Amino acid sequence: MQWHILGAGAIGCLWAHCLIKAKQDVRIILRNEVHLHTYKATSRLHYTDMDARKSHSFPQAELPSDAAPITRLFITTKAFSTQDAIDSIRHRLVDNAHIVLLQNGMGQHEQVCNQLPHCHVWGASSTDGAYLTSPFHVTRAGKGETIIGLLSRYNKLSDFPLLLPEKMDDLTVHLTQNISLYLWRKLAINAAINPLTALLDCRNGALSSVPAYRQKVSIICKEIEAIAESLHQPLFEDSLEKHVFSVAELTANNFSSMHQDVTHKRKTEIDYINGFIQAQSALKGLDTPFNKQLITSIQAKPHS
Ligand SMILES: NC(=O)c1ccc[n+]([C@@H]2O[C@H](COP(=O)([O-])OP(=O)(O)OC[C@H]3O[C@@H](n4cnc5c(N)ncnc54)[C@H](OP(=O)(O)O)[C@@H]3O)[C@@H](O)[C@H]2O)c1
Repeated sequence: MQWHILGAGAIGCLWAHCLIKAKQDVRIILRNEVHLHTYKATSRLHYTDMDARKSHSFPQAELPSDAAPITRLFITTKAFSTQDAIDSIRHRLVDNAHIVLLQNGMGQHEQVCNQLPHCHVWGASSTDGAYLTSPFHVTRAGKGETIIGLLSRYNKLSDFPLLLPEKMDDLTVHLTQNISLYLWRKLAINAAINPLTALLDCRNGALSSVPAYRQKVSIICKEIEAIAESLHQPLFEDSLEKHVFSVAELTANNFSSMHQDVTHKRKTEIDYINGFIQAQSALKGLDTPFNKQLITSIQAKPHS
């Protein structure tokens, strides 16, 4: 089976490597000639697993402007790059192509579904962790699971099989009929942990261990729960706050992705995480002042 991967960063390289190990034909689509040239110096991905074991794989690399048709595509850019990424390969998508948005944040899914009604658009939510040490060198930082589901509400998964390999080297993948639940859960947890850790300049664990930070978690969680409730969107059976503290404790020593982005003066995904919550609250005429304050403070951070 042939797969294209658009966004050869940490998650894109992790998936490219694991799909190749599962004997799939993988092509990574690189942004431009400069990236292609860098890749072609060795034409390989370097993967370091959780036990520091190293291995390689050899996906082919293409440019967006290539002509070869795309039938199965993973988008693994940051959420704010989705539109540019889709625009760059739109001409190559066959009718009924499968597109998997393997990203955090929300808002981009609806955009892609609306723009590509002739494609099957999937959402994916992952608790895996990975980072790049240099271009095309990916290190596994955490082993979680990826949940994938079709975004078009009225279609059944069985009608549009994605045909992922049954055994995926080093990745745990499940299909769901209700992907929006998992996207919302991840969004809600990220909307609390990401901006707070970035603004308080702390590791995830501090959100649970420092009483003053716990209070801030409670405030943002209540705002998010109010929005979800107004949309009739279930989150968890118990409180969101409980799940945020649990994730903060399980990943106590980690710096969140937004903390790292702010530290390295990179653009953050705030507009697609807390920004999405803000847009929903505006639609419902609800007030979410603390969420708004978090967005404004993160947006004020310098980035390239
Ligand atoms: N890393 C994790 O552990 C993790 C875990 C769970 C979920 N996620 C989510 O997964 C998504 C990807 O995260 P990541 O950490 O893999 O990000 P990343 O390392 O920044 O990778 C994104 C890649 O997409 C490339 N890209 C952007 N626009 C492009 C375009 N138009 N054409 C071609 N390539 C393009 C970027 O290239 P440039 O560098 O040239 O911009 C970069 O290589 C995010 O939504 C993130 O929140 C990440």
